[in-house]
Amino acid sequence: MNEVIKTINKRVSLRRYQEKEISKEDLDTIINSAIKAPTAGNMMMYSILKITDEKLKETLSKTCDNQPFIKKAPVILIFLADMQKWYDYYKLCKVEDIKSPGMNDFMLSVNDAIIACQNAVLAAESLGIGSCYIGDIMENYEVHKELLNLPDYTFPAAMITLGYYPENTKRVYRERFKKEYVVFDEKYEKLDDEDLIKMFEDKENSMPKSNVFNAGSFGELMYKRKTSADFSVEMDRSIREWIKAFTDGVEL
Ligand SMILES: Cc1cc2nc3c(=O)[nH]c(=O)nc-3n(C[C@H](O)[C@H](O)[C@H](O)COP(=O)(O)O)c2cc1C
Repeated sequence: MNEVIKTINKRVSLRRYQEKEISKEDLDTIINSAIKAPTAGNMMMYSILKITDEKLKETLSKTCDNQPFIKKAPVILIFLADMQKWYDYYKLCKVEDIKSPGMNDFMLSVNDAIIACQNAVLAAESLGIGSCYIGDIMENYEVHKELLNLPDYTFPAAMITLGYYPENTKRVYRERFKKEYVVFDEKYEKLDDEDLIKMFEDKENSMPKSNVFNAGSFGELMYKRKTSADFSVEMDRSIREWIKAFTDGVEL
């Protein structure tokens, strides 16, 4: 295994960090690695917010679904999908009949931001710095827009916490679905009932029999805990608001 593959395989989401600042050199390496990521048309339709302010971290740990470990991370990076700079530049260039950003701009800039973020995650891992994505940054549109000074043509596509692995961290590797349910040759294959039962067999068998959701199957548990949970409903509302502002009111 070469070093890159080793780094990919070693990574886990890290939610406990050494109480130690990330060195300027390491942080620069992480950011520079993010910036090396491919972007659509080399337009780099994203921006990175580098957050170390204790108060701001504390607020984010509350507004991102009350996850206290967030404030303990020495650094938070937020990767914004960002068309604002391009649209302002188009105006500066006096381009005629500039159209509002569309869903194409939204999706491409989201792709750019997330791809750059994953470069940062792997660069960090290679330096002994762990990370954890925080999806909840896409919630609370009004709060996060004001808190982070975000103009309309931006969207917080990804957020990660960063911090050095504590010594003797025991990495817990979470099982993935078997490849046959994830990778298809040439064309998509819709899984039938039998496939789905096999795909989820391990999850079903290891699921706690009694749970706060009173769920009798892994499917019911996950639907209640994730897909239809309050945070998911809020995320849906919030993202719709973001897309509305980003596209000057596209019909969804
Ligand atoms: C888009 C996205 C959002 C996530 N949001 C959270 C989060 O809000 N809080 C958290 O503790 N982990 C979060 N995670 C981490 C996942 O729980 C984790 O990646 C998954 O359980 C697999 O574990 P691993 O990363 O250790 O392999 C998120 C991961 C992704 C990719």
